[in-house]
Amino acid sequence: MSADPCTYVIFGATGNLSRTKLMPALYYLDAQQRLPEGTRILAVGRRPWDQSQWQSEARSMIQAKAREGIDETVFQRFSARLYFHQGDIEQEACYAELAAALESGQFPRNVAFYLAVSPSDFGPVMELLSRHRLFDEEYGWRRVIIEKPFGYDLDSAQSLQKRINHYLSEEQVYRIDHYLGKGTVQNVLVFRFANVLLEPLWNRNYIDHVQITHAEEIGIGSRGDYYDAAGAMRDMIQSHLLQLLTLVAMEPPATMEAEALRDEKVKVLKSIRPIPKEAVHAHAFRAQYAKGSINGEKVAGYLQEEHIPSDSVTETFAAMKLYIDNWRWRGVPFYLRTGKRMARSQSVISICFRHPPLQFFRGTGVSCKNPNWILLGIQPEERIRIEMTVKEPGLEMHTRMSTLDAGFRQAHETSHDAYEDLLLDVLIGDRSLFLRFDEVEYAWRIIDPILQTWAIEREYIATYPAGSWGPAESRRLFDKESQFWRSSLTPECN
Ligand code: BG6
Repeated sequence: MSADPCTYVIFGATGNLSRTKLMPALYYLDAQQRLPEGTRILAVGRRPWDQSQWQSEARSMIQAKAREGIDETVFQRFSARLYFHQGDIEQEACYAELAAALESGQFPRNVAFYLAVSPSDFGPVMELLSRHRLFDEEYGWRRVIIEKPFGYDLDSAQSLQKRINHYLSEEQVYRIDHYLGKGTVQNVLVFRFANVLLEPLWNRNYIDHVQITHAEEIGIGSRGDYYDAAGAMRDMIQSHLLQLLTLVAMEPPATMEAEALRDEKVKVLKSIRPIPKEAVHAHAFRAQYAKGSINGEKVAGYLQEEHIPSDSVTETFAAMKLYIDNWRWRGVPFYLRTGKRMARSQSVISICFRHPPLQFFRGTGVSCKNPNWILLGIQPEERIRIEMTVKEPGLEMHTRMSTLDAGFRQAHETSHDAYEDLLLDVLIGDRSLFLRFDEVEYAWRIIDPILQTWAIEREYIATYPAGSWGPAESRRLFDKESQFWRSSLTPECN
């Protein structure tokens, strides 16, 4: 698919997302010659900046993230694309002036509006854009990119969607889950569907359970206001981790086109067994970090962080168990776990296979303590690892575990950020890596009972020292004694 020039209008252009992700990603797309000739980037912000101030601000945003420093030739080309539109997004005037600017002939008529603003502003900003006819596609396409969180729970997500339906058609909406832009996440599908040897094993007959862990060393930083109202279940599980689960569990789609892919993901979400309120404790666990140390450095507990009320019971660690009631997965538990201020930053999908029948080896010294595992390293280790039992060299029939590794990237291959992929897809009009509303809706349906139960249980929350793997009590989610959290690709690091 090829792309026409477009104008990227970024609301919240001076904010954190734009600073750390959007501007660097657009710069790198330009460096790879992927921004169509004539593409413009129009930042909307309240600050009284002129063009050159914005350009120098953009330079420092990119510099902070530049993998090998800024390439001056690329930056010159890039900075010629940058414009600043001063305005208050709560005021009508901002939109009237924006409409006039977009019609001035200076900008391509295809426009992508990126809403890098607080979720409470999504609705109002869209309403004002619509009122000023900025979504009319008379002279070019108009697309809107909406960041997560899409809603706060099922009800609010549905209300936001109703509002969106007034202004936009579904084809114009790009709901971002940046995990889908990660190469290692896309590789889950390639690994599953481009290798014939896995498919016969990828089901309840051979798989004991699946784990998805996302651990972060960082705390909540300066995002206290947002995070305290969200918590780990909303922030990570409702979106990124459930998306990872759909990719592991889905049936092969008819094609890789957006609708075919999303249909299959939704089928998985719909097949997840609802968690009744009385079973919430058997299926979900939450905790909060207390003070501790990370990489030898002392760090504060959650309650000591900026903007956090001293009696907050917001979870910074959440774990849950799900069952997918379909022919492929019935009876196989999926364990999801995420936490801030954990021992190490690590995202990994771990597939644990059943134990083989051992009668064959009886009396031989082959004990097969370890089942086979397939580990899909998402980050920072980008590799797929298969653990197998092999014979130890020597005269005895002893065994040990050995691994087959498939690295995602070779030493000379550079990495690129998920946002590069996603921002480019918006230009091309490819929605396969964006969420359809029903995916968001079903994800909320799954976690809503847990959120509702936790919301009324305000007396107690378990804690874990910062720098640990979370409280040992989360083990209570496991179905079997033999199951344990797999935190790393390397067994000895668990
Ligand atoms: C964001 C969450 O969506 O994802 C953050 O709001 C989290 O809390 C981040 O830190 C993790 O993304 P990544 O790409 O750093 O793993």
